[in-house]
Amino acid sequence: MISKPKGTVDIFGDELKYWYFVEDTFRRITQLYNYYEIRTPVFEATELFLRGVGEETDIVQKQMYTFEDKGGRSLTLRPEGTAPVMRAYIENSLVKNGLPQKFSYLGPVFRYEKPQAGRMRQFHQFGVELIGSPHAVADFEVIKLAIDILDALNLHDYKLYIGNIGCKNCRPKFRKALKDYYQPKLDLLCSDCQKRFDTNILRLLDCKDEKCKPFQKDAPKTFDYLCEDCKEHFDELLSYLEGLNVSYELDGHLVRGLDYYTKTVFEIKHSSLGAQDTIIGGGRYDGLIEELGGKVTPSIGFAGGIERIILALKNENVTVPELKKCQVYIAVLSESARIFSLKLSQNLRDRGIVVEMDLMKRNIRNQMKYADRLGAKYVLIIGDDELEKGVLTIRDMETGQQVEVDEKWIENYIVEKFEE
Ligand code: HAM
Repeated sequence: MISKPKGTVDIFGDELKYWYFVEDTFRRITQLYNYYEIRTPVFEATELFLRGVGEETDIVQKQMYTFEDKGGRSLTLRPEGTAPVMRAYIENSLVKNGLPQKFSYLGPVFRYEKPQAGRMRQFHQFGVELIGSPHAVADFEVIKLAIDILDALNLHDYKLYIGNIGCKNCRPKFRKALKDYYQPKLDLLCSDCQKRFDTNILRLLDCKDEKCKPFQKDAPKTFDYLCEDCKEHFDELLSYLEGLNVSYELDGHLVRGLDYYTKTVFEIKHSSLGAQDTIIGGGRYDGLIEELGGKVTPSIGFAGGIERIILALKNENVTVPELKKCQVYIAVLSESARIFSLKLSQNLRDRGIVVEMDLMKRNIRNQMKYADRLGAKYVLIIGDDELEKGVLTIRDMETGQQVEVDEKWIENYIVEKFEE
């Protein structure tokens, strides 16, 4: 037997109701904010992520599914959605449509990570990107949109954390403060952080290794090193959050795992999820489009992990809409009844009824058993006798009651039953 790759799942059956609920809610809420989908390829030139996500990040260093195609090109399965959307924005000259541009997206993402609860190698993200506004009101819109999605999903046990990692003017000062703080402790850190000390010192603040954690509490906080511009931007954002009663917690150690961020960063964590508790992460990336060859275009966005959000829905026992079950099963008793039944199925489906009819040429007993297993509300029984008389038998599977209905009225009879 060939098994699925480690860190992936097959999604089917009753599980689908969670996926539809999350995806439908995401589309509904983003459209209320006038964000529309952009669909980019699942694989991109590797270079995009080296430049976009950053060569020194864990994603690029350890987690990318990179391969050479038959033409000798280096391609990578997307490990995130922001760099591809920016590539598409630049490549299609979308700036001609004016600013801001607001995009949403939804689909599979790939990272070679050690699988555990809430951490997979193929997972699914929904996300948005708001391109072109440098103002804090854009940060607010994106954060509020994330909150509105979680509220519309009926989730409650989540918390918003906000940080600010400064810009290219003030971040060097913060980096230096971190270096001064960590230098004397360097030998005590994990081997990854000893390397990151030189290449990506911010990441020392969110290393999960037990050796590194004790030093994080007293490490310098980003907020103390912001320049005037970043501070003003941040205060403006906080005033909107307060003005609209969005609760948040400040986190001066929030640094995120991708290099493109500037100024505002945020994460939303769910209290039921243990180690992998971030359900949404995002922030501002004012330099990314320029880095990828476009004009300087300040932007902000977020992405949410659908698998983790579904775990949160289950942990909070949120009731999600059930999938529509089979409403009418047509039991076919003879060959001559089959064409009639196929036509009737079609007419009922055209009127919005979920219909299934016998495809296995089973005997009536087994057809009734199957209809019962499907949970069909009604079974229509159609054989030669019925067609000759022009009268069909319909059985209510809940009450066991059977009635005879004139063939001419059967469609209306069924449609009306479901309108009751
Ligand atoms: P990220 O924080 O790397 O951000 O991923 C966003 C979300 O994807 C996480 O908060 C988490 O819920 C989910 N996630 C990440 N890795 C895994 C995994 N291995 N298994 C399951 N779920 C996972 C980004 O990807 C940025 N592109 C977000 C963004 C958009 N920033 C600005 N715009």
